[in-house]
Amino acid sequence: MSREILDLFRRRYACHAFLRDRAIDRDDLDVVLEAGRLSPSSFGLEQWKFVVVTQPEEKAALQAACFNQPQVGDAPAVVVILAKTADLHPDTDYIKTLMAREYPGAALEPALANYRGFHANTEVKAWSITQCHIAAANMMTAATAIGLDSCAIGGFLPDRVKQILDIDAERYEIALILPLGYCAEPAPEKQRLPLSELVEYR
Ligand SMILES: Cc1cc2nc3c(=O)[nH]c(=O)nc-3n(C[C@H](O)[C@H](O)[C@H](O)COP(=O)(O)O)c2cc1C
Repeated sequence: MSREILDLFRRRYACHAFLRDRAIDRDDLDVVLEAGRLSPSSFGLEQWKFVVVTQPEEKAALQAACFNQPQVGDAPAVVVILAKTADLHPDTDYIKTLMAREYPGAALEPALANYRGFHANTEVKAWSITQCHIAAANMMTAATAIGLDSCAIGGFLPDRVKQILDIDAERYEIALILPLGYCAEPAPEKQRLPLSELVEYR
């Protein structure tokens, strides 16, 4: 590995046209989902949930909810990443269980008190979505590593997506939509600002 990791980042690109008739092996899909599961998260709270959509009718409805972006309907699998919201309230069993795992023994009570203050002063939906974006980034890199293409989709109507997938709006927000498959187009040239413009050493 070592510096070869950079080749993965260079090879990944946002695919705008997927081969419609090339399915994804379940094992490959599981690799991508596992990369999401293993991602780091604030307080270790795993704010994500993954809904995998493969039915053509559901994908077509999602495409319409994504301003008709064709990659959503064409990709053989579309992972809708949900951001937990209600579960993150300090009084839930979810928080008690996951915080006890992260802060065992005597560390738990002060950690819960700290979390209560954090939660009260945080825009929870937005915070939860940022955690899901970390998982999404890892999932896209993992997809590249096993020869799959992807396209992060942030352009969607959240209420429509929740309605299509029958998502409990009290518990989840839509974080990101991630079509996966095999791209029908060649990779474009990478466009990035040089490090010299992005990095400041002090
Ligand atoms: C959070 C997020 C949301 C995005 N939303 C869309 C989208 O709705 N439609 C789309 O075609 N690309 C979307 N993209 C892809 C970006 O346009 C793309 O990553 C960027 O132009 C850089 O190109 P590259 O990924 O090919 O290197 C999104 C990317 C991110 C990270």
